[in-house]
Amino acid sequence: MEKTEEHRIDPLGDWKRTHHCGELRAEDIGKEALLMGWVNSRRDMGNLIFIDLRDREGITQIVFDPRENEESHRRARVLRNEWVVAVKGAVCPRLAGQENPKLPTGAVEVKVKDLRILNRTETPPFQVDGAVDASETLRLKYRYLELRRKKVFENFRRRHLMTALVRDYLNRHGFIEVETPFLTKSTPEGARDYLVPSRVHKGLFYALPQSPQLFKQLLMISGFDRYYQIVRCFRDEDLRADRQPEFTQVDLEMSFADEEAVMSLIEGLLAELFEKILGVTLALPIARLEYREAMERFGTDRPDLRFGLEIRDVTELVRDSEFKVFRSAAESGGAVKAIKVDGGAPLFSRKALDELSRLVTDWGAKGLAWAKVTEEGWQSSLDKFFTVDMKKALNTALSARPQDLILFVADQPRLASSVLGMLRLELAARLNLMRKDHYAPVWITRFPLLEHNDESGGLEAVHHPFTSPMEEDIPLLQDHPEQARARAYDIVLNGSEIGGGSVRIHNVALQQDMFKLLGISKEAADMKFGFFLEALKYGAPPHAGIALGFDRLVALFSGVDSIREVIAFPKTQSAACPLTDAPSRVDQAQLNELGLLLEKTTES
Ligand code: AMO
Ligand code: AMP
Repeated sequence: MEKTEEHRIDPLGDWKRTHHCGELRAEDIGKEALLMGWVNSRRDMGNLIFIDLRDREGITQIVFDPRENEESHRRARVLRNEWVVAVKGAVCPRLAGQENPKLPTGAVEVKVKDLRILNRTETPPFQVDGAVDASETLRLKYRYLELRRKKVFENFRRRHLMTALVRDYLNRHGFIEVETPFLTKSTPEGARDYLVPSRVHKGLFYALPQSPQLFKQLLMISGFDRYYQIVRCFRDEDLRADRQPEFTQVDLEMSFADEEAVMSLIEGLLAELFEKILGVTLALPIARLEYREAMERFGTDRPDLRFGLEIRDVTELVRDSEFKVFRSAAESGGAVKAIKVDGGAPLFSRKALDELSRLVTDWGAKGLAWAKVTEEGWQSSLDKFFTVDMKKALNTALSARPQDLILFVADQPRLASSVLGMLRLELAARLNLMRKDHYAPVWITRFPLLEHNDESGGLEAVHHPFTSPMEEDIPLLQDHPEQARARAYDIVLNGSEIGGGSVRIHNVALQQDMFKLLGISKEAADMKFGFFLEALKYGAPPHAGIALGFDRLVALFSGVDSIREVIAFPKTQSAACPLTDAPSRVDQAQLNELGLLLEKTTES
């Protein structure tokens, strides 16, 4: 092997870094600096070689000038992007006109007196400092290179600061951080578990926790009073931009507390994060919407309140129209719902409306009817089916004025709402109403306690089975359990559910009733949650809590669309890690030790 200086065991020698690469300013002119970092880019002008030297804090221009040091200049010829170097030199002003106002260090450059090459590199699979043009798989395979990008790194610095602020806030409010087990038993958040086979107990499995839910409730029974944990949770579910198989919660629980206590605590925390991270003053208290109202007005339980475009039920106003689709919907227990787009008439061409129509049919609706409001009346294929009075009444109900666009969907009420809820987001995206620097948080409260599971035909908990029903709805549990509401709350920011929690059941009898309602037999309940039911018998205080989806919060604060951007080593859509190649095969010996026999798969 060629003996080069970077092959020395200790290429740093006695060199100590004096500044990082984002630090030098005009005031430092005349100082000696010793910088270390990566070659971000180079320009060889023959006589002078300019290099942008990069570390996590920024970039400093360094110059090799043979008049300064001929030997260094000669050796600098071989430097390539991403080589690791250390340079010593004087901080000098850049030549007049050569300053770079875009760089904080743009007023100066370091004239190199001495160079040490600390390491070379293979040609990277993509340019570290360039447009993001590589495929996601490639970027994740070489994630450590992508993490060198300043913009990417800043997300992690932000995440770190947010973690520190969360800890500080909760510490000040009497919470103590407790770690709970990862090797545990199935927890009830409704996703699939990740299982870990036991070697010692062959045929038995641990489950990785979907959340620390039961442990934090046990800690309340222990009298810990206020618990928190910034904790990894594991869920085997279909992945999306805002879902990863392992993700982080700010998980907390408080004793002798109700929903108000939890909500005001979280509001204080969010206000502090907004203030200190974004410099934004959050108006408190945060708005609240009952679940039912959210579904009606926005077609979703996580409404984006940065814009209006609310959904209106106009069934009664179109019941007597000649338009068969609307009339028959109204007569058969369906509904006709509408969204009005202010000034939308000139913005949506026939072609655009056809596109929207195709979208809503993809989402399960039967069609999309529209009307453009003009001074003269409606411009719409429905025009002829409505009397002048009907159109007037609709315009009034929707506050529609000339130039506005009205979009209608007739269907089962829930479907009409949810489709219009999705259409609302599509419209907002097309109209640029989703500004990343606008923040519209909202609490969604009074969720239904239970819902029908289409697959099993039975009832299941909307939140989880440890959530308390509302006191006044307990009588409903007998005959109309699906009408009972929960003491549950979600916090939603810009259309993203960033947290959810509830007041818990602390009474063992009610908890057992709850399992019964969910069709969980006593035996099954004992097997799955027996330890917890047992604990509830020993003086459980009333308690309540919440968990914030921390990755989602950091992503929103960072203005990025996917939580993958704020997770150092995330997984792909298919829950794989291109970097480590996990999940991967294991040795036969390991399988034997675990007593596992694999079925033949197509790959084996
Ligand atoms: P929940 O299941 O609502 O509640 O989870 C709390 C928050 O965690 C985030 N979240 C996720 N983030 C990324 N990837 C995922 N796969 C994922 N799943 C959930 C969401 C969500 O609001 N134990 C209860 C909390 C409680 O009742 O105290 C729980 O886990 O932002
Ligand atoms: P048709 O009478 O089927 O030609 O439909 C006339 C218009 O009504 C078309 O623009 C359809 O997309 C629309 N339409 C059809 N069914 C529905 C529905 N259920 N809700 C809203 N619009 C509909």
